[in-house]
Amino acid sequence: MDDPSSALTSPRRLAVLISGEGTNLQALIDAQNTLLLPNTHIVLVLSNRKNARGLIRASTASPPIPTAYLGLQPFLKSNPGKTRDDYDLEVARIVIRAKPDVVVCAGWMHIVSEGFLDVLKGTRVLEGEEILAREVPVINIHPALFGQFDGTHAVERGFEAFQKGEVDELGVMVHRVVKEVDRGEPLIQRRVEVVKGEAIEVYEERLHKVEWEIIVEATRIIVDEIRPPLSSDGTNLHN
Ligand code: GRF
Repeated sequence: MDDPSSALTSPRRLAVLISGEGTNLQALIDAQNTLLLPNTHIVLVLSNRKNARGLIRASTASPPIPTAYLGLQPFLKSNPGKTRDDYDLEVARIVIRAKPDVVVCAGWMHIVSEGFLDVLKGTRVLEGEEILAREVPVINIHPALFGQFDGTHAVERGFEAFQKGEVDELGVMVHRVVKEVDRGEPLIQRRVEVVKGEAIEVYEERLHKVEWEIIVEATRIIVDEIRPPLSSDGTNLHN
């Protein structure tokens, strides 16, 4: 049986889901095991795109971070009769095998399904897998303020709306993932300056810099929520 005290001192484990460039992942790689994210390390980076640059960021990190790839179309092709829901459950299986404390969707370009969330909550046990000891929270970065521009192309839709005068502020958030897309409780939201007449690329560059800060801050919040931080002698600060 596990020593219960080791649950307080053992490193906090993150699984990160990506689809592309992986600059938000990079922010987490740089922050792991520093004062920004103490006693925390990334145990898995999973991509739904084979050529995602984030996979290279992970495998060339020091020490290298384990990676996995599972694409929806290849999965459906090689498993006739299986569905999108089955794909999500397979993603969940890969994730739970890494035994994460938290899952961070950092530019994961799939809607997170209810089945996936049920597995991470521990209310659904996949065949052949162990029962989860506790719920694994899932968080997501979304490039809009809460309730503003849910779903895909939020940056473009938001920027256009601002330029037309339909909204007067834009921003980014990291939120808890629930089955309603981009509707989970925000852990952090931050406004991003946007200027009339500027190019969207200029705005996007500003937005990404804010994303890289809040993804680390929000991960810290959620990780501390499940496991309070340790003092320098390894004892629990909150006890
Ligand atoms: C970010 O802008 C995120 O908000 C959006 O996808 C982008 C991912 O960028 N959902 P990267 O792969 O982290 O560079």
